[in-house]
Amino acid sequence: MTSVQDFQSLIASRNSTRDFLSDEIPDEVLQEILQDGVNAPSWSNTRPFLVAVAKGDQRDRISNALVSRLRENKEVKGMGQNPDFTHEVPYPDGLIDRSRKVGAGIYSTLGIDRSDSEARFKFMERNYEFFGAPVALFFFTHKGLDHFGTLDLGLYMQTLMLSAKARGIGTCSQGYLGNYPDIIKDEFEVPEEYALVCGMSVGYPSDHPINSWRAERLPIEELTAPSKREPSPEGGFRGD
Ligand SMILES: Cc1cc2nc3c(=O)[nH]c(=O)nc-3n(C[C@H](O)[C@H](O)[C@H](O)COP(=O)(O)O)c2cc1C
Repeated sequence: MTSVQDFQSLIASRNSTRDFLSDEIPDEVLQEILQDGVNAPSWSNTRPFLVAVAKGDQRDRISNALVSRLRENKEVKGMGQNPDFTHEVPYPDGLIDRSRKVGAGIYSTLGIDRSDSEARFKFMERNYEFFGAPVALFFFTHKGLDHFGTLDLGLYMQTLMLSAKARGIGTCSQGYLGNYPDIIKDEFEVPEEYALVCGMSVGYPSDHPINSWRAERLPIEELTAPSKREPSPEGGFRGD
């Protein structure tokens, strides 16, 4: 049985890897990681998601197509992105500041000035180069299960990321990899009722400083909805 301390250090040590060695992941190790993910819970055990695995020539072809598409759309509003799922950009009030902190942390670690649009564009390209990782995963969910599909997928993703981490393998979940679904669907058999959510780069982390940068961990109090039913100093309950 894993000790609490071992488990805590595993989950605390997982972070997004944004620079990878080109070393291949042995097929059987990759298969184990993908299978470990299936230990996650799922709505009525439906597992309403699919994962597509790109490595070798297929990985390179997809990466080249994504980078070319980005370059073609450099001057186009929204970079010609046409994701299956859209979200509010910039992020909604209350969340935008957290996102900015991540951007600032990454750019300052990479020595990129916020006003340097060329360097920022290059970082975008690095997303589509899978940060050098030998494996790219793409995740789809069944549209029929709506948000429960994406919820189940998230649980699967985190479980496989921890399994990878336990083997010294790094991961980076990437919304970027959901931006041009036609390129991905051209490479894999994806039933019509499945939509692309995002992707993930997987490989062995390099010793680049970006991999040592740590995103803030918010205190749980900040993420806890206050009870309306706590006794108030005046008597009665707050919210009554
Ligand atoms: C759904 C999702 C999409 C993400 N998209 C990207 C992305 O496109 N590019 C990137 O560099 N990081 C991406 N990330 C990584 C987040 O920035 C990262 O998880 C967050 O800042 C917390 O840092 P940590 O993973 O190192 O703990 C994504 C993470 C998630 C869960």
